[in-house]
Amino acid sequence: MALFSASATAFIALLLLLLHGTSTGQEQIPNSDVDLLEFPLNLEFLEAEFFSFAAYGRGLDSIAPNLTLGGPPPVGGRRANLSPLIRDIIAQFALQEFGHLRAIQNTVRGFPRPLLNISAQSFATVINQAFGQPLQPPFDPYANDINYLIASYLIPYVGLTGYVGANPNLQSTTAKSLVAGLLGVESGQDAVIRTLLYERASLKVRPYPFTVAEFSTKISNLRNKLGKEGVKDEGLIVEPAAGAEGRISGNVLSADKDSLAYARTPEEVLRIVYGSGQANVTGGFYPRGGNGRIARSYLPS
Ligand SMILES: *[C@@H]1O[C@H](CO)[C@@H](O)[C@H](O)[C@H]1NC(C)=O
Ligand SMILES: *[C@@H]1O[C@H](CO)[C@@H](O)[C@H](O)[C@H]1NC(C)=O
Ligand SMILES: *[C@@H]1O[C@H](CO)[C@@H](O)[C@H](O)[C@H]1NC(C)=O
Repeated sequence: MALFSASATAFIALLLLLLHGTSTGQEQIPNSDVDLLEFPLNLEFLEAEFFSFAAYGRGLDSIAPNLTLGGPPPVGGRRANLSPLIRDIIAQFALQEFGHLRAIQNTVRGFPRPLLNISAQSFATVINQAFGQPLQPPFDPYANDINYLIASYLIPYVGLTGYVGANPNLQSTTAKSLVAGLLGVESGQDAVIRTLLYERASLKVRPYPFTVAEFSTKISNLRNKLGKEGVKDEGLIVEPAAGAEGRISGNVLSADKDSLAYARTPEEVLRIVYGSGQANVTGGFYPRGGNGRIARSYLPS
């Protein structure tokens, strides 16, 4: 009897495996999922390099070269002038991004790291665009904790909205579970950055006459403008009507009227990270554009 049930169990397991598709037990990932899983590599490369340079003064080429898949080294990354606590947090974020790159590359083929412009000037350009005037001296993301956290406010949030946008379009269990795992940690990074900034919301970002909260509002407004799909981004202090349940001005997390995360399409993400408001006009952090089928589909071949 025991023998029978053991072989019956084995038979059912074999049947399930066969029904599932391949003999290795690996689910077949449809091409549409492959594209949606590969696209975020663009943002994960940017985050990995920006956090790694800031924390360690070195990037993927020095620490985890096989994760670059051969793409060119980034331009302008520097070790940031950070306090021990912030350096420790950013080092953790950098290493988390290495894990994200590996997880995606272990699931889909991926593509080489695109050329990334993480120079101080690249961030200064975004900040000038956000304020509609050139700040003097130019904003330097690597100068101190506050500047670095403001620069970091620029990045995981865009990745987060992209994962929220991708999720309903995924077909396979493999893709859904990977994106859920990535989204959870990206949101966590954004929450840590926003909390650290929220704590400093009323401080002036010296030597400028603007507070941390004003920087956050200007950057979020810029992203809404570039994304061209309405409000999907909110600063740290808002009109109470835009806060949770329409009744609070503190806005430690950015979310919609039901406090659900906003979703962005790849096209919106590209408009923002290129700084051009157009997915077919590269620039900003990606001088030659993103890689992969989705990003390249907007560009002339
Ligand atoms: C990269 O190389 C390390 C060893 O140096 C290895 O453990 C890791 O699995 C490699 N990753 C990939 C994506 O090939
Ligand atoms: C990086 O961005 C800055 C500011 O926009 C620009 O001056 C510089 O030429 C860019 N570098 C590359 C390699 O695209
Ligand atoms: C980009 O696309 C828009 C339409 O969305 C078009 O008007 C514009 O000419 C294109 N620009 C380039 C450089 O291809």
